[in-house]
Amino acid sequence: GLPARVRIHEVGPRDGLQNEKAIVPVEVKAEFVRRLAGAGLRTIEATSFVHPKWVPQLADAEQLMPLLRDPRVQQDLADVELPVLVPNERGLDRALEHGVGRVAVFGSATESFARANLNRTVEESLAMFAPVVARAREAGVRVRGYLSMCFGDPWEGPVPAAQVVRVGKALLDAGCEELSLGDTIGVATAGQVAVLLREFADAGVGTDRLAVHFHDTYGQALANTLEALRRGVTVVDASAGGLGGCPYARSATGNLATEDLVWMLDGLGVETGVSLDALAGVSAWMAGQLGRPSPSRVVRALRGS
Ligand code: HMG
Ligand code: MG
Repeated sequence: GLPARVRIHEVGPRDGLQNEKAIVPVEVKAEFVRRLAGAGLRTIEATSFVHPKWVPQLADAEQLMPLLRDPRVQQDLADVELPVLVPNERGLDRALEHGVGRVAVFGSATESFARANLNRTVEESLAMFAPVVARAREAGVRVRGYLSMCFGDPWEGPVPAAQVVRVGKALLDAGCEELSLGDTIGVATAGQVAVLLREFADAGVGTDRLAVHFHDTYGQALANTLEALRRGVTVVDASAGGLGGCPYARSATGNLATEDLVWMLDGLGVETGVSLDALAGVSAWMAGQLGRPSPSRVVRALRGS
């Protein structure tokens, strides 16, 4: 069976905009978050407190957070969670200064990506996260753990499920309350999703603690999501308009488009609380800001562009 309700973890402002070539003005980012909330999204990943040189697109995190607390904007965000990414204690300190209620650390199932993304080995990155998770929880801040390269890695190829489960369990044991399984380069197919979820279940990790995070490089994100839902997952990451991706990078495109997800869930009678028409309008507006059409099939079908 399928769940009655799915919580969409919207990552457009973070995962989407971190990949944009042009740097989006901070006022536009704040307006994007506000409009996403207006379309019914209740968990919107706002930005990252990472090293500004590593991700210049999100170097304005300090400017964005106060804009989201502007009374005019905040009214629209009253019951919206705005998680942010923090890789280390420096990032957590910055996030806590802005009163965040939820953060995410982000590990890798493979050594190659841990090195490329965090300048650490897998073990070193887990050691880096441990005090972040502990201190966040002490401060009453909820912590999500991301795990990248759960299916395939651009340097290492297919990733063994046992390796993914080992690092994923370490993140949960460190105190992450939710683990988001990332197909960072969008190569997974549904059978692999089934295998990985079964391996997690065998290791004592049920779908109540798991979220899925599919990039849509090979057009498999929806099929993979459906497989995860059939196996009990109820938290799905997606990006409005399928934002993200770079025309020059073959291995990483945008996330599953939130509109594609909502179209499917509406059709299946699964509740999301999101208005598809309103959301497609937000993505059309954002596409105008970025100067190119949304890659989402559903946005194009609904908006005719
Ligand atoms: P490093 O160079 O090893 O940093 O980078 P360090 O710990 O050696 O520190 C060097 C300097 O950076 C120090 O300053 C620190 O204070 C400063 P100095 O003492 O030399 O003056 N520094 C910072 N400044 C501001 N904010 C910080 C911070 N940390 C250190 N947070 C580091 C290590 C982790 C910082 C770096 O690798 C980094 O920022 N990586 C982030 C990469 C990233 O954001 N990637 C995208 C997100 S992950 C993703 O998209 C995947 C996901 O979507 C799931 C999926 O699809 O699979 C989540
Ligand atoms: Mg991602």
